[in-house]
Amino acid sequence: MPSSDDLRLTLPPLLSAYSGTRPDRLPVWFMRQAGRSLPEYREVRKGTQMLESCLRPELAAEITCQPVRRHGVDAAIFFSDIVIPLRLAGVDVEIVQGVGPVIGTPVRTAADVDRLTALPGGDLSAIREAVRLAVAELDARPEPVPLIGFGGAPFTLAAYLVEGRPSRDHLAARAMMHADPAAWDRLMTWAADRTAEFLLAQIDAGARAVQLFDSWAGSLSVSDYTEHAAPYAARVLAAVEGRVPRVHFGTGTSEILTVMRDAGAEVVGVDHRIGLDEATRRLGAGTVVQGNIDPALLTAPWEVLERHVEDVIARGRSAAAHVLNLGHGVPPTTDPGVLTRIVELAHSR
Ligand code: CP3
Repeated sequence: MPSSDDLRLTLPPLLSAYSGTRPDRLPVWFMRQAGRSLPEYREVRKGTQMLESCLRPELAAEITCQPVRRHGVDAAIFFSDIVIPLRLAGVDVEIVQGVGPVIGTPVRTAADVDRLTALPGGDLSAIREAVRLAVAELDARPEPVPLIGFGGAPFTLAAYLVEGRPSRDHLAARAMMHADPAAWDRLMTWAADRTAEFLLAQIDAGARAVQLFDSWAGSLSVSDYTEHAAPYAARVLAAVEGRVPRVHFGTGTSEILTVMRDAGAEVVGVDHRIGLDEATRRLGAGTVVQGNIDPALLTAPWEVLERHVEDVIARGRSAAAHVLNLGHGVPPTTDPGVLTRIVELAHSR
């Protein structure tokens, strides 16, 4: 077994923190760091649909590396989308700008579920190629930067599939889990297997960690999450167990942090709703935490934001290790210079 001193010396700071050893430098990256906040992203995306751009390996790799070159973050996150495995399996899904994923034929009945779950997984070769290209550039940097792979948790994917579009309360999805638990089980198992294949493709091509996004988990009660969502997240996380560190993130999840960890994650992503000290009190000091700068403060005067970031860092000290991030994705209107300043602040400590 390598000692924790060896880990500190040999692993990039992100992977040292994910493995539970505090690195010398506080690692930082941002959810949605690739995207509309960057002029170089808007430039290369011109004339290409969102999901199309994910399926062009050179373009997806280029976009993945843009925020690393600009901000000096400690990780790249693969540029793709949680609905890509659905699209590759043949689901009629588009990303509508300003709205999010829209499904041509929502999955509302047991017969709809059967039609969907008869689809096998799609061809992931474009994903593997994009990851390989991005990793080649990231590994060639003077200080190699690890790539994080990601996928959508089954509940968030099912919420889109059943509702057909983003929804505030997910009534149709929450109805199905109770009204037809057998159909719900088939739908969630299918979604879990698609995300597991997506994660494995990224790991096989060089991703050094993975993050499972359950953006809508917070719309469930603790018991509904525990019974009708967590077992399927656990199915995904088990499929990659032992390969790379696993991060589990959602929003509105203050009451289910331990359930999310126990689904099989070494690292728990925390949104802005509770402090990292309180999250650590709930999780126990052995769990690594990631987060949780409030994205709303990115537009505040720098002194206000700086104080907030310092507070997040101070509260993160109670955990086994901490990776600085936002509580949710970078808003498209963010001044990218502010993100660079946060990276400089984190690295100056
Ligand atoms: O930098 C990164 O974080 C990289 C990649 C990434 C994207 N989507 C690219 C993207 C990741 C990790 C995601 C995950 C994702 N996609 C989630 C989970 C995380 C979260 O934000 O809660 C969800 C729910 C989706 C579904 C989705 N895709 C939404 C809600 C949207 C926004 C639609 C809009 O226009 O407001 C997308 C589109 C999307 N995915 C963009 C990006 C960069 C914006 C596309 C554009 O340029 O118009």
